[in-house]
Amino acid sequence: MKSSLAINGGPKTIDKSFDWPIFDETDVSSVLEVVRSGKWGNPDCAGIVKSFEDDFAAFCGAKYALTCVNGSVALRLALIASGVRPGDEVIIPPYTFIATSSIVLEANCVPVFVDIDPDTYNLDPDKIEAAITKRTKAIIPVHFAGQSCEMDRIVEIARKHKLTVIEDACHGHGAEYKGRKLGSIGDAGCFSFQSSKNLNSGEGGMVITNDEKLYDMMNSLRNVGRVKDGQWYEHHYLGCNYRITQLQVALLSTQMKRLAEQTARRHENGTYLNKLLSGIKGIRPLERGRGETIHSYHIYIFRYDKAYFNNLPKAEFAKMLAAEGVPCFMGYPQPLYKQPLFQKKNFMCYAIPEHVDYTKVHCPVTEKACYEEAVWILQHGMLGPKSDMEKYAEAILKIQKAFTSFHP
Ligand SMILES: Cc1ncc(COP(=O)(O)O)c(C=O)c1O
Repeated sequence: MKSSLAINGGPKTIDKSFDWPIFDETDVSSVLEVVRSGKWGNPDCAGIVKSFEDDFAAFCGAKYALTCVNGSVALRLALIASGVRPGDEVIIPPYTFIATSSIVLEANCVPVFVDIDPDTYNLDPDKIEAAITKRTKAIIPVHFAGQSCEMDRIVEIARKHKLTVIEDACHGHGAEYKGRKLGSIGDAGCFSFQSSKNLNSGEGGMVITNDEKLYDMMNSLRNVGRVKDGQWYEHHYLGCNYRITQLQVALLSTQMKRLAEQTARRHENGTYLNKLLSGIKGIRPLERGRGETIHSYHIYIFRYDKAYFNNLPKAEFAKMLAAEGVPCFMGYPQPLYKQPLFQKKNFMCYAIPEHVDYTKVHCPVTEKACYEEAVWILQHGMLGPKSDMEKYAEAILKIQKAFTSFHP
């Protein structure tokens, strides 16, 4: 019965609020301590900034960690410090946030889109080599939604062609590939602490690496081109002020204490929801088992097939599911290369070669994910009890029943 759907005024399947961020008095006192100290910035990135970086590096099993203003800048620092030159090509997936591509353009490099795997929505290792040219210098695998990319295969291809690997782990705090923390496997790994992320200080970012030279250069670039042992007004490289504040780090330090437990809970709920949704015709969770040992479920994604819902378009289905109380939406409406930025080459002052034409790019798996298949449940919806997962499955079945005579 369509009238029983919450979107039409019926009762919601799950009627609760999903809190995010989660905080208590320990977060408040941590921030207050910094406020009272009067030292809010940190031009030397010392003190609590350095100790948080050291803790984060140790947590990830990396030698160096470097905070900065956000995840986009983390990627920017890693790419520029890796030594790319104008016109170099950088391989990225088209199913990701705009920042993965815009930082490439801002480095005067050319984003080359390689399609995703239909079962994981991560960069498809089988398609990478065909996209490599003499100008290719780096690959940015995105651990989308918190599921690890197939890093052994990607690193092997990169080493063979002498390419830098910069992991976009902005969704992957605490997630693991074959027991190794995401971000610690390539040459550098980048994280976002923007407010929706699994580790959050409103805004903020981090790069980790095991490479001392890369670390020193990134350190200089985030600090207006200053160098170790240099003078205050001595600037060696074209950097900027990309430093984090102590106020953000105060929050991160207390939030970090919750990360492992929250990640474990999301992982467990995600595994359970996979089992529940696999039993519903027309719903397919993304596949696991390509090496990820912990999935951080920044997003829980399932694939929707409208044929089992009387051809109800995905966008409408997602709206109905959200009305039932599931914290979800349809995700990216289009692949990155379809954005006006790429179609119209609105690159402002950044110099991209004439021959580059994004109107000719076609990545069928990403297009299907955006236009037809992918539905996202957000990370804060994965932190509740298992009964929430049961309600999510119930809500999907309720919509299916309203649109078909089909009884699974
Ligand atoms: C995959 C991915 N990469 C990079 C970023 C950029 O992070 P920030 O918003 O902190 O700049 C985001 C942010 O949403 C993201 O989702």
